Amino acid sequence: MTATLTITSDIAASGTLLSVRDLAVHFRVKRGHWPWQQATLRAVDGVSFDVRRGETLGLVGESGCGKSTLARAVIGLTPVAGGSVTWRGEETVHGARRRLGALRREAQMIFQDPLASLDPRMSIAQIVAEPLVTHAPQLGRQEIARRVLTMLERVGLNAHHAARRAHEFSGGQCQRVGIARALIGEPGLVICDEPVSALDVSIQAQIVNLLRDLQRELALSLLFVAHDLAVVKTISHRVMVMYLGRVMELGERDALYHAARHPYTQALLDAVPLPDPALARAREVPLLSGDIPSPLNPPSGCAFRTRCSRALAVCATQTPALHAHGSPHSIAACWHPRTGGDPPAA
Ligand SMILES: Nc1ncnc2c1ncn2[C@@H]1O[C@H](COP(=O)(O)OP(=O)(O)O)[C@@H](O)[C@H]1O
Ligand SMILES: [Mg+2]
Repeated sequence: MTATLTITSDIAASGTLLSVRDLAVHFRVKRGHWPWQQATLRAVDGVSFDVRRGETLGLVGESGCGKSTLARAVIGLTPVAGGSVTWRGEETVHGARRRLGALRREAQMIFQDPLASLDPRMSIAQIVAEPLVTHAPQLGRQEIARRVLTMLERVGLNAHHAARRAHEFSGGQCQRVGIARALIGEPGLVICDEPVSALDVSIQAQIVNLLRDLQRELALSLLFVAHDLAVVKTISHRVMVMYLGRVMELGERDALYHAARHPYTQALLDAVPLPDPALARAREVPLLSGDIPSPLNPPSGCAFRTRCSRALAVCATQTPALHAHGSPHSIAACWHPRTGGDPPAA
């Protein structure tokens, strides 16, 4: 499987920053009123991917598929049940604690709810300065203040905002502060977990454009998590699609959006609302139907088979591995992948 993860692209030559292999995160959850009535929930179930230097990897999937758990597990905020996370060539899960420390310093997170992630007692300047005060106190107060003001301007704020507190700001402004705080320490990787989902639609594009501009300008690597495929499309170089804790498809952005291999990817794309009602009526392929199965009792074989119009007997008995299926641009875990562009078989 590892070999098939190497996909040609214009940024492929730039090298790998983060390498995740067979990562598993399990939660013990109650299944009744007795303490021993517990079950294992496989929130992340054998996930492998790379993030390259200077690329944005989008991560999409319906709510509850394990996106946030994966993001948190990668930087050690959630314990893992198995697998490996390699940061700049060094294993962090089983390696020395200092390696995880290096990853935590160099990888920053931006969260969904910007206001909740900002300390209400601190000024904006204090919030943005905090990573430098903690990790680079040798810079001195003047230099830290200079960097904070430069960063505030870079994210579209200014010196007038510095003394104010987060509750005085709009959601979009709070997210700009969150971005400034994440970037001030010059991280190698920024994990954005649904960074625009809580914002007004009119503000979403501004924040996504800001992140995209900063990514390019600073040659950052982003892991951009969202359930909205349209948002992910505007910012990602490659996109990974998750379902019930597993990767269904991983590929270059255009290949994935224009010639999805996995029926689940196509179903997600078909479920994106079309702006023109006439176009929506003309759409012939079925929209994603049925509920997501319980992650406590996922279907045997391919996890998506209970909602898949292409499913056959093998899909229930054997779990498909990620495979290129002849495409140099994407890999999909499917026994009956689409050939690209064709509607799913009835
Ligand atoms: N701390 C936890 N304890 C038990 N189950 C959890 C916990 N965190 C997440 N889960 C479960 O793990 C699965 C994945 O959740 P999550 O990663 O939040 O999904 P997403 O971010 O894709 O919406 C869900 O079924 C969720 O209920
Ligand atoms: Mg989430």
